[in-house]
Amino acid sequence: MNNMIELSDVSYSYEGTPALKNITLRIEKGESVALMGMNGSGKSTLLKLINGILFPDSGTYRFAGEKITHKKMQDPLFSKRFHQKIGFVFQNADTQLFCADVYDEIAFGPRQMGLDEDETEKRVEDCLSLLSIEALRHRQPYHLSGGEKRKVAIASVLSLNPEVLVFDEPLLGLDPRTQRWFVSFLMKLHEAGKTLLVSTHNLEMVQEMAERAVLFDESHTIAADRPAGELLKDVDLLIRTNLVDEYYHHHPGAGHQHFHIHPF
Ligand SMILES: Nc1ncnc2c1ncn2[C@@H]1O[C@H](COP(=O)(O)OP(=O)(O)OP(=O)(O)O)[C@@H](O)[C@H]1O
Ligand SMILES: [Mg+2]
Repeated sequence: MNNMIELSDVSYSYEGTPALKNITLRIEKGESVALMGMNGSGKSTLLKLINGILFPDSGTYRFAGEKITHKKMQDPLFSKRFHQKIGFVFQNADTQLFCADVYDEIAFGPRQMGLDEDETEKRVEDCLSLLSIEALRHRQPYHLSGGEKRKVAIASVLSLNPEVLVFDEPLLGLDPRTQRWFVSFLMKLHEAGKTLLVSTHNLEMVQEMAERAVLFDESHTIAADRPAGELLKDVDLLIRTNLVDEYYHHHPGAGHQHFHIHPF
C-alpha cells in the first residue's frame, strides 16, 4: 500500500464559510509535500481534515487505504491507532499543549502507545536534546514563550515517531537557528522514508525540503500540484496566487530568487 493520504472530491465549509472545494489529492508513502497558498485559502482546514479533527461535508478521505469518518474516530482504539501513524503540529501551539510540564507533554505520546517509563524517558530525552530545550524540561507549557511552545509541540510529535508527519506553518515564530535546524531535520526525516506534509508561506523552505508543492488559490481549490522546483519558477503563478508580491518582484534586488527565511 503506497497511498498514505487520499482525498477524493472533498469539500468543507464552516457554517456557510467555504474552506475547501472539490479537493482531490493523493500523497504516497515517503513523499515530501509543501502546501502553499494565501491566507484563508484552506491549508489549515485541509491539514485538520487529514489529521481526523474535521471531516468532509462531501467526498471521502482515506488514510493508508482506510476511510476516515467521524464515527470511526470516536472509537478510542481506532483513533489511537490512527494517531500513532500520523503526527500533527498545529499552526497555533496553544491548542496542542495541555500537560502540566514539558516532560509530560513530550512523554504523552509514547505513554499512550504503551511504552514503558525507561523507553519513554529515552525518547523524551532524545527529543529535548534534538530541539535544545533540555532546560525547559520542568516548565509549565502554558508559561512558555511562543517559540518555546512551538519547539515543545514539535518535540511532542517527534517523540511518537509516526510514519506521517504534518506541520502547519512550523517556522512561525522560530529563531533563525531553529528554523535552519528544522528544515535540515525535515530532510533527514525524508531520507529516513517518512511521509511529510508541511504548510508554509516560506518559499525558501519549500525549495529546500519539498519534492512536490500543492498550491491553493483563493477559491479554496488546488491551483497547481507540481514538482516544487518547477512550481517555484512559475513567477506568474506565484504572483497570481499571492505567494510573491508583484511590487517586490519587479524591483531590482528583490527578485523571486532571493527568498529569505525570516521570522514572520
Ligand atoms: N473555526 C472556523 N470557523 C469559521 N471559519 C473558519 C474557521 N477556521 C477557518 N475558517 C475560514 O475558512 C477559510 C480557510 O481557513 P484556513 O485556516 O484553512 O486557511 P489557511 O490557508 O490555513 O490560512 P493562513 O495562511 O492564514 O493560515 C477562511 O476563510 C477562514 O476564515
Ligand atoms: Mg493556516
